[in-house]
Amino acid sequence: MRLPLTMYLVIFVSASVVFYQYHLSKAWMISHNNSQFRDLSAGPIEKGTNYTYYASKNISQAVPCTDFSLSNPQLPPLYIITPTYRRPEQLAELTRLAHTLMLTPNIHWLVIEDAEQKTELVTDLLQRTGLSYDHLLAPMPEIYKKKKKGPKPRGVSNRNKGLAWIRKYAKDGVFYFADDDNTYDLQLFREIRYTKQVSMFPVGLITKLGVSSPIVRNGKFMGFYDGWMAGRKFPVDMAGFAVSVNFLLERPKAEMPFKPGFEEDGFLKSLVPFEPYEIELLAENCTKIWVWHTQAKRNDPSQPLDFAKYNNTNLVLLKHILV
Ligand SMILES: *[C@@H]1O[C@H](CO)[C@@H](O)[C@H](O)[C@H]1NC(C)=O
Repeated sequence: MRLPLTMYLVIFVSASVVFYQYHLSKAWMISHNNSQFRDLSAGPIEKGTNYTYYASKNISQAVPCTDFSLSNPQLPPLYIITPTYRRPEQLAELTRLAHTLMLTPNIHWLVIEDAEQKTELVTDLLQRTGLSYDHLLAPMPEIYKKKKKGPKPRGVSNRNKGLAWIRKYAKDGVFYFADDDNTYDLQLFREIRYTKQVSMFPVGLITKLGVSSPIVRNGKFMGFYDGWMAGRKFPVDMAGFAVSVNFLLERPKAEMPFKPGFEEDGFLKSLVPFEPYEIELLAENCTKIWVWHTQAKRNDPSQPLDFAKYNNTNLVLLKHILV
């Protein structure tokens, strides 16, 4: 059978294009591996591109990007547990935290909403980060939601859901409770990643003392400095400690109590056997502050929009983003 000349031409040109594309993609990967830079302005990361591993559930495949001091892809995985709930500041805070995590290699982000349904805007934000993540739900149990008096145990069902996820899927590495209203120095993630059991470090902007920290003398743990001791065995902030996954797995009963103000203390006590003198002191013997309890100013919900007046304008779409 004889093929016409044009057919040969078409086959030749197609083969050349495929060959060229293949080399182009290889060159792209090599240049990116060498530079350690990931182009954060490149837009959403689509499945099926060379970026797939960033969105992969398999954290061991994640590749370091812009972390300059630790470019080894064999880093222990770091699981970041972030409770969140719908409020005016939510998207702003999650955006900021996402951008910190995008600069951190080999992490898996567990974003857990106190809600019955996933917030679509949160789903969209998470997808656009290209991070390895799971978006989970953990509504506060009704008995606490109905509570009229005193503070509610916010974030507890979320964090326990995160712990359950870790028990199910994680095999090694370290986890850390990172609320969405804090500011994190990248150095924090470099250090907590190597936690053997439980590590602790100062948290800035906490209570009237301005900091919550272990007290250290000559490299030795001496006690706790915190503006609200309240008879706690571990008077520390949620952002002030990290725990090894294996340490948790060896303690099947460990979880966070629904006890406002005593969540950290209750959780750390549930890691029994574990005593304060066993704490691994990070941040250069607790002389540095790598995490700040920033807290955004509380905003009131936005006022209603006059939909009749602003019909067919951008304001209608903006109003759907706002709380
Ligand atoms: C912590 O303090 C001890 C005792 O002074 C010292 O030997 C050690 O090098 C310090 N560690 C760091 C990381 O600064």
